[in-house]
Amino acid sequence: MTRINPTDTTTAGEGSPVTETGSAPQADVFELSIVVPTYNEAKNVPELLRRIARVVTQKDIRCEVIIVDDNSPDGTAQAAREVDVPLVVRVVERSGPRGLSPAVVDGINLARGTYVLVMDADLQHPPESIPELLAAVRGGAGFVIGSRYVVGGEANEFGFYRILNSKIATLLTVPLVGRHVRDPMAGFFCLRRDLADAEQLNPIGYKIGLELLVKCRPGKIVEVPIRFSPRHAGDSKLTLSEQIKYLRHLRRLYDWRWPTLSQAVLFCAVGTCGMVVDLTLMTLLMFFGVAFPLARVASIATAMVFNFVLNRRITFPGAALRTWKPQLAKFVAACSVGVVINWSVSNALYALIPSLRWAYQLFCIVGIVTGTASNYLLSKYVVFGAGVAEDEPGRVDSARRGKRSP
Ligand code: GDD
Ligand code: MN
Repeated sequence: MTRINPTDTTTAGEGSPVTETGSAPQADVFELSIVVPTYNEAKNVPELLRRIARVVTQKDIRCEVIIVDDNSPDGTAQAAREVDVPLVVRVVERSGPRGLSPAVVDGINLARGTYVLVMDADLQHPPESIPELLAAVRGGAGFVIGSRYVVGGEANEFGFYRILNSKIATLLTVPLVGRHVRDPMAGFFCLRRDLADAEQLNPIGYKIGLELLVKCRPGKIVEVPIRFSPRHAGDSKLTLSEQIKYLRHLRRLYDWRWPTLSQAVLFCAVGTCGMVVDLTLMTLLMFFGVAFPLARVASIATAMVFNFVLNRRITFPGAALRTWKPQLAKFVAACSVGVVINWSVSNALYALIPSLRWAYQLFCIVGIVTGTASNYLLSKYVVFGAGVAEDEPGRVDSARRGKRSP
């Protein structure tokens, strides 16, 4: 293995905001590309590279390491270039908006190995586990996770809030990846490079591994137990805003997998919340002695506005780009149509099937379902307009680029 001198500076991809230094000669053939996203990891990168070098030398793994840095103010890129290790180290500096996932996508686009392994720079992911992850992809797995939650793994997770958070976050992925994947949130994973179709990738936030698991259809998924260590130095960048991004990312993945169903499910969830608002306000107004008919008007109107706001922002996010007043008028009209349909269907059934009148609730349920379906279809095609845009205008450049360097 050769030490690569940080000489040439190249710009990768079409108009992409990344600059690379220290490229290896093009003729090199690598089995493995190790992609490491970094932001303010100058104190960790030297030790990381030394430990990677030790293990890949021992196991004779032909690999390149691609450090993808987001212009870290602490000089991470420089620190990576200066480390003296018997390893091909490529340093990629991004200048666009920073982000863990897009940095990893850029790294994957530049990778030249048969397999790509992604890991953090802070040594929470032990480099000594790399051979085991590689062995599993060599053995035919499409995607291998360095997992905290299989037998032999260690999460090193402390605090009720953090554990609960992680459990709920993982639970929300079950419909997407199945129950058998124990650690879909991991940032330590390895996959066949040809499976990572950059055109498909559009992640926001931290969970690039989940994005790949869902979109690349890797077939056989294997989890290798790892000991998730405490951070070597510095602080985590996982802020509350990153966690909110996770919810938006999940929504994108659900939309991607089940485009129509996921929207309809959200619409019903909003409707259910609206019902809670309606009943709560109704109870309050009655408690304060407001007359029933008036209380009904106030609580129905409030719930309707509540549903309107949520549907406009969450269920049909593209609609929020247009003016709200005509939309609100149409929404109220659509809901009124829904009420008429609900009333008509349940009454018609009551009149037509006298033998089932003892279970009249059934007629009401059919009325509610058809009324809701009408509400949904009118909202989708008339109120908020068809062809609803993405919740995040402007995909990450690197994901669009979809081209790899030779
Ligand atoms: N290029 C780039 N840009 N890298 C970033 C950015 C960014 O904006 N933000 C974070 N990173 C890098 C860090 O420098 C580190 O190498 C890695 O991404 C993980 O960041 P941490 O801040 O250490 O994340 P964490 O330890 O809280 O989360 C890790 O564990 C989670 C599981 O609990 C990550 O691996 C997550 O992906 C994982 O889900
Ligand atoms: Mn970390």
